[in-house]
Amino acid sequence: MANLGTLKKELHRRRAKAEQGGGQQAIAKQIAMGKLPARERINQLLDDGSFHEYDLFIEHDAREFGMDSKEMPGDGVIIATGTIHGRSVAIFAQDFTVAGGSLGSMHARKITKIMDYALRMRIPLIGINDSGGARIQEGVNSLAGYGEIFFRNTLNSGVIPQISVILGPCAGGAVYSPALTDYVFVVENISKMFITGPEVIKSVLGEEISMEELGGARVHSEITGNAHFYALTEQECFEQIKKLLSYIPWNNNTNSLIQTETKEPNKKCNIERIVPVDPTKPYDVRDVIRAITDGSDFFEVQEKWAANIVTGYGRMGGRTVGFVANQPMALAGVLDCDSSDKAARFIRFCDSFNIPIVTLEDLPGYLPGVDQEHAGVIRHGAKLLYAYSEATVPRITVILRKAYGGGYIAMNSRHLRADFVFAWPMAEIAVMGPDGAANIIFRKEIMEAPDPVAMRKQKVVEYKEKFANPYVAAAKGYIDAVIEPKDTRKFILHAINISKDKNVSRPNKKHGVPPF
Ligand code: HXC
Repeated sequence: MANLGTLKKELHRRRAKAEQGGGQQAIAKQIAMGKLPARERINQLLDDGSFHEYDLFIEHDAREFGMDSKEMPGDGVIIATGTIHGRSVAIFAQDFTVAGGSLGSMHARKITKIMDYALRMRIPLIGINDSGGARIQEGVNSLAGYGEIFFRNTLNSGVIPQISVILGPCAGGAVYSPALTDYVFVVENISKMFITGPEVIKSVLGEEISMEELGGARVHSEITGNAHFYALTEQECFEQIKKLLSYIPWNNNTNSLIQTETKEPNKKCNIERIVPVDPTKPYDVRDVIRAITDGSDFFEVQEKWAANIVTGYGRMGGRTVGFVANQPMALAGVLDCDSSDKAARFIRFCDSFNIPIVTLEDLPGYLPGVDQEHAGVIRHGAKLLYAYSEATVPRITVILRKAYGGGYIAMNSRHLRADFVFAWPMAEIAVMGPDGAANIIFRKEIMEAPDPVAMRKQKVVEYKEKFANPYVAAAKGYIDAVIEPKDTRKFILHAINISKDKNVSRPNKKHGVPPF
């Protein structure tokens, strides 16, 4: 009988062979492209010494197209659990050195196993995607594998956070699974995402385009909105993931909320110098957010896409808060198709994971125009109305300056069941801006006046005094308090504190039908 020493040697031999993946040459090719080997990626992401790997000795079971003679160590994917900030996570990393990280049936079985663990243990799932999609040689078995993954992505949604990292050329199913997850991270020059690659596009449509132009990191961060975080290197990307996990809870149970020690508990809110009283003058709303959060910290989500709305996390009183804010610096902060999509999705994540939402409002309304109408601004804009109306987490709105028309309602108004609505003294709440309004309702008087310009001016002033202020809404109780800007942090903190045990009930239903 073999002794333990010999058995251990055999284990080490097998382990070392499997850990080689596609071999030294293939690994060197990865590194030359600026990519880290799959196992190294996991090591860099997890706390030191916490990496525990499973199913290292899995073998593929494909027999067609010469596959019976092919060795594919680990079947091209690593699954593991470990910790980040000392808290457990489940992780998989596809290994491009083994058949381009393509997904065969055993590869899929490994991924679904770790997804099932993650759900059972209620811990976040991180997927590092570096894959050519469904393994062509395995036909319908690989498609079945993707179906199993997509189903689990949907099942896990709203129960555990799901994070996708795109670290290579990802095609087909390797991009649809990330699209079903909560946050997608990309890295310059390394990440590519597309349903069909340049070769297929060329043969079907005769169009030539590079992988980078078709679906590079910038394309998905700035144009499509498929990516939420953009990094210059893999290391920076891993730091971003760790930072995100320092804000979001481990699951949808309130016990897993993250509470940190409050930095600057008595922080003074020095906002007045940031926001000009003149409603036409722009400013960076992120400065307002930083002025009210603990430690002036703000971690922005989807910074490069739909910049006219800002979404992201900060802390108030040590508790994570989700911020949604119109950005007067970009398109005057209007709502449009993309900004509505961006905010709606962020709101739904916060609501699923018990994160209070603070809305900072300063917008002239929805963006008018044929392009927007034809792009479906009615449907996209409705997503924002739906997401706010549905959310039951504490919701607080501060109207900083303009709140016009549909924008006033959509940005977490009292009418959509905001818990608290505060307004600054320079807030203007009206159906539309004074200039537009005066032109419409006083058209006749202006036209018939001996001096139409002077009459128009006078009517704009009249309208402003009557409607474009916070007191008409305050008189109706639509606003709970008109506050000085310097008291903003104090009012929000108090509102969050007293909402800790917020309890609302909604009609029983299987689920609603959001305007997807
Ligand atoms: C089997 C694959 C593969 C795949 C890549 N490889 N993709 N093997 N099935 N899907 C293998 C290659 O044969 C090659 O093997 C190795 O991986 C590296 O690939 P290269 O092409 O040399 O790398 P690169 O030039 O960097 O191009 C990467 C790529 C390209 C853009 C991903 O390989 C590609 O276009 N692959 C096919 C993409 C695709 O159409 N997938 C199916 C999607 S359908 P060797 O042995 O030469 O090293 C799908 C269904 C689900 O996923 C849809 C859900 C809705």
